[in-house]
Amino acid sequence: MNFDLTEEQLAVRDAAREFAQTVLKPGVIERDEHQRFAKEEVRQLAELGFLGMMVDPKYGGGGMDTVSYVLAIEELSKVDASVSVLVSVNNSLVCWGLESFGTEEQKLKYLVPLAKGEKIGAFCLSEPEAGSDATSQQTTAIDKGDHYILNGTKNWITNGGVASTYLVIAQTDRDKGHKGINVFIVERDMEGFIVGAKENKLGIRGSDTHTLMFNDVKVPKENRIGEDGFGFKFAMKTLSGGRIGIAAQALGIASGAYELALAYSKERKAFGKEISRHQAVAFKLADMATEIEAARLLCMKAAVLKDQGKNYDLISSMAKVFSSEVAMKTTVEAVQIHGGYGFVKEYHVERLMRDAKITQIYEGTSEIQRVVISRTILQD
Ligand code: CAA
Repeated sequence: MNFDLTEEQLAVRDAAREFAQTVLKPGVIERDEHQRFAKEEVRQLAELGFLGMMVDPKYGGGGMDTVSYVLAIEELSKVDASVSVLVSVNNSLVCWGLESFGTEEQKLKYLVPLAKGEKIGAFCLSEPEAGSDATSQQTTAIDKGDHYILNGTKNWITNGGVASTYLVIAQTDRDKGHKGINVFIVERDMEGFIVGAKENKLGIRGSDTHTLMFNDVKVPKENRIGEDGFGFKFAMKTLSGGRIGIAAQALGIASGAYELALAYSKERKAFGKEISRHQAVAFKLADMATEIEAARLLCMKAAVLKDQGKNYDLISSMAKVFSSEVAMKTTVEAVQIHGGYGFVKEYHVERLMRDAKITQIYEGTSEIQRVVISRTILQD
């Protein structure tokens, strides 16, 4: 077993770190406060190739491995999880789904601009009454021969207002259960597609989250991905990789908060010495460092399995549930170590604490990850 990163992986990590610290950090508090999407910063990230990192260069991507992707997401998330979720959704839900299961025509038309970051993608599964229970899709797509007619509402869609290409999961035949679900590529300017209200959120406030409405949207048949009835499996397979991205995001939020708490604890003095020299704080730091390292190992194992072409469904769920819980715990402790300063915005840790919470909810709640894990370990 070799834990060393390659030169290329280190270069990706360093580039992401540099970008996060110099470009993302200066405006992150203001973006959070005003729920402002980082338009210019995302444009620069796209130019650097971060929006299609893992896509084959022949489709405009960076051709990097999943380990590099985890390293990049960790570094971006240390500073701005609102930006890193965009990178994660575009790479692992939208680009990966299209590259793995799209036709050559779909790849040339939709994947190339997404991989180059000229366009942004969104993944539309969640509904008002179908979040965790993904088979209960109420959005319908009625087969009309050469096209489908799409009707329904999607909720909490990341990149909802800034995307141009939407992968929309819908029910085509309710009697067939999950085998009657399909996935469609929907373009923003298709008639009847409406971008609804922007959510006012606890965390990742700079991320663009919307309700989307589909009113008799005519979607050409060639925009369906895969065979008829493949939509649910498409969603499950895609989310399995997406969970590596969210696990890496949680890891980054945790390690960002830890680094801030560590630095602060070495400067701040109380009772005649730096607070890091009080065991009450030193032991917190020890636990944070240990749990972050364990989360990193799970993220990396999931990434390596994916790069090796092996099954990563179990480990990606383990990585997500564990890293997101570490993110929550670590950020709460980072605020505590900062004392009163931790409760105000300038010190960044309160934002990281608010951002951590979503990692336990989206791309499958912690409860859903435990469903996936327990089913796998209990099966004969
Ligand atoms: N790969 C391939 N196939 C899979 C699979 C996987 N990882 N997981 C399940 N399947 C297949 C099963 O084999 C089964 O197929 P067969 O009937 O042919 O055997 C089929 O899918 C149905 O599986 P289940 O019976 O396990 O389905 P279920 O209804 O019990 O649900 C679940 C399983 C794990 C709970 C699933 O519903 C789930 O993952 N829910 C959470 C959804 C989710 O993550 N939502 C988040 C929204 S996206 C988001 O947040 C994006 C964003 O903007 C940030």
